[in-house]
This record gives sequence, structure tokens and C-alpha cells, in this order.
Amino acid sequence: MINQFRLKDTDATEQFGAALLPYLPKKAVIFLHGDLGAGKTTLVRGLLRHAGVIGTIKSPTYAVIEEYSTDNRKIFHFDLYRLADPQELEWLGIDDYLAQSALCFIEWPSKGEGVLPQADIHITLNYQNDERIVQISGIDFSNNFSIGTCKNNNILV
Ligand SMILES: Nc1ncnc2c1ncn2[C@@H]1O[C@H](COP(=O)(O)OP(=O)(O)OP(=O)(O)O)[C@@H](O)[C@H]1O
Ligand SMILES: [Mg+2]
Repeated sequence: MINQFRLKDTDATEQFGAALLPYLPKKAVIFLHGDLGAGKTTLVRGLLRHAGVIGTIKSPTYAVIEEYSTDNRKIFHFDLYRLADPQELEWLGIDDYLAQSALCFIEWPSKGEGVLPQADIHITLNYQNDERIVQISGIDFSNNFSIGTCKNNNILV
């Protein structure tokens, strides 16, 4: 089942990331699809803030991976855009990250094809002028309180 939501601005995308957090298990591989500037990092930043991360939340563009620990969650945020070869993931110790009880958000997963496992959840962001459309597969939103909240904020399609 694919769920689709309209995100009218940067704040809405951050709020959506925050609203997503309670629907995620302790451990999951989450692929983030979408062009440069589509809002992948913005969504993860909103989720990390909601999880209790304080201080600067950097895009992993240069470091490839940023690691976060909160009281009850571990969250790894990857951006594979700059990888020249999927094998580099093995040198970075990808297997150790994936083995942990953690959320692994992965931007540009196509750059890790052949080394990355299948994703549990796919999040796809597409441009619609200043707005974005987000599609999610792998989460069941039925009977959903937070999404009701999103609806009031006009971010549900
Ligand atoms: N509705 C929207 N949702 C998210 N971002 C938006 C929206 N409207 C405008 N923006 C802007 O688009 C940019 C999104 O940047 P972001 O770094 O999140 O993209 P990204 O998908 O992670 O790109 P990259 O592939 O380069 O890492 C930000 O500058 C943000 O302010
Ligand atoms: Mg990004």
C-alpha cells in the first residue's frame, strides 16, 4: 500500500518527519528517494528533532554518515551521493550499522546497489513547484491519530 501526502513548505516536511517517528519500529532500513533538493534531509531533520536530538543536524553529504543516539533510539543517517563505488560502503562498515537495533535512513540508495539490503520502508519525495509530494510504502497508517493531525495542518493529500 502506498500512502501519499502533500507537503506545502519546508516546515510541513519537517513536521511530517516528526509525525512519522511513532510509526517506525526500533530497527528498519528506510530508503529516501528523490532529486537533489527534494527534501530528504529536511524530512529526516524534523524526525531527529522530534526524537530529541539537540544542536546542529548536518546533512551527511560530506561525511556519508551521521550518527544519533537518543534515550530510546539509535538513528543513522546516510547520504550515498558522493560514493564512487558501492564497495566503499563495506569499508565504512555498513554491516555493523545495519546489524544494530537502529533506524537507518539512506539518501541516494541507488549508489549502494549490490551492497545495501532491501529496504523495509521507501519514502519518495517529488517536486510540485514549492510544494512536495511524499509517497510512503511499508508503513500501515490505518486508524492513525498523527495523520489526523497532519490533515488539520493541511499536509494530507
Ligand atoms: N515543501 C518543501 N519540503 C521540503 N523542502 C522544501 C520545500 N519547499 C522548499 N524546500 C527547500 O528545498 C530544500 C530541500 O533540501 P534538502 O537538503 O532537504 O534536500 P535533499 O533531498 O536532502 O537533497 P540532496 O539530495 O541534495 O541531499 C531546502 O532548501 C528547503 O528549504
Ligand atoms: Mg540530503
